[in-house]
Amino acid sequence: MAEGATLPDHGAALAPLRALVLALAEPVMLVSADGVVRIANPAADEVFATPMTGAQVRAHLRQPDVAAMIERALAPDGAAGDIHRALMVVGSANAETTWQISARRMGPGAGIDATVISLHDISHMEAAEAQRRDFIANVSHELRSPLTVLAGFIETLQDAAQDDAAARAQFLAIMARETQRMTGLVADLLSLSRLEGEERIRPRALVSPVAVLRATVAALKPRITAAGVVMDWNLPDDLPAVIGDHDQLVQVFHNLLENALRYGAGGGRIALGAQVQARFPGMDGPVVRMSVTDQGEGIDPIHIPRLTERFYRVDRARSREKDGTGLGLSIVKHIVNRHRGRLLICSTPGAGSSFDVVLPCADTPL
Ligand SMILES: Nc1ncnc2c1ncn2[C@@H]1O[C@H](COP(=O)(O)OP(=O)(O)O)[C@@H](O)[C@H]1O
Ligand SMILES: [Mg+2]
Repeated sequence: MAEGATLPDHGAALAPLRALVLALAEPVMLVSADGVVRIANPAADEVFATPMTGAQVRAHLRQPDVAAMIERALAPDGAAGDIHRALMVVGSANAETTWQISARRMGPGAGIDATVISLHDISHMEAAEAQRRDFIANVSHELRSPLTVLAGFIETLQDAAQDDAAARAQFLAIMARETQRMTGLVADLLSLSRLEGEERIRPRALVSPVAVLRATVAALKPRITAAGVVMDWNLPDDLPAVIGDHDQLVQVFHNLLENALRYGAGGGRIALGAQVQARFPGMDGPVVRMSVTDQGEGIDPIHIPRLTERFYRVDRARSREKDGTGLGLSIVKHIVNRHRGRLLICSTPGAGSSFDVVLPCADTPL
């Protein structure tokens, strides 16, 4: 078929299509059988960083899978209606976009023989998939270490240590600790999955910040005593209520105080505080800002943005030795998000760390 016959009258046939393509938010191009782009919308021009109208599409879609897909889509014997797809990755290593490119030849009703090429940004799906894979790898790894220890000691107990009561008692103690570690990990994983499920459901109860802090300290009393830490309280008398979920907020401060005891007890003092602030950037109305401050070794600023990632620890061996799971701060972050609050982490290496939770004030008193 001659070129003229393929596209009988560009101008007239393309005019209504042009208006439609230009109105689409996603990158779309209309390509004639010879591979020339007849219409490209601004989103498409932006992806290829050049005006695409009039360009030869093959010159711009050169990744082998994509090029092969375009050839199939433009093949003279190809059927109208068939959808051809390929993935195209553009950008640098730290800002990559993954596009799914689809090409479909228009049916006879269109009045012209042309193929519609559209691009769909699936980067977020790719990122979510990569995160899921990392998560599973991390969980498997975290469970495998205690299981390896347990398997080793079971074997030893079965042969060598069978008649050695002292060794047996020592091994059983280690096994109990490893089992405890796995139980803690599973409990944290269940907490996380429950929180992810209800993150959009905002809690509605009126909660006393002071009651939350007191319940937290009561639960950790033995560990506070064991660490020999002095607790300082900075609480005004007339603190308003916050809107929240009491038990989840106790979970937040349990994690923060536990961390202060684990990693910041060297400073000898831990302060718990709460204060009202008339406003806080990005939040409506007054807030209560609650804080856990230690005078321990602090955290290097490079780690701070990543602390709430699942399984992120500054010092993995140290966290494990203190029975940490690496999930505490990600649980904190989820709960604070569910409360539409903010988590602020400030730390000066050598001087200590402060973890602040900012929560919306309730309009009515408790
Ligand atoms: N108060 C603190 N002082 C110093 N480092 C801290 C403090 N709180 C948390 N961290 C660091 O953040 C990491 C992540 O904390 P978290 O998610 O609670 O995990 P875990 O306590 O199980 O290790 C810890 O491993 C530790 O390196
Ligand atoms: Mg922790």
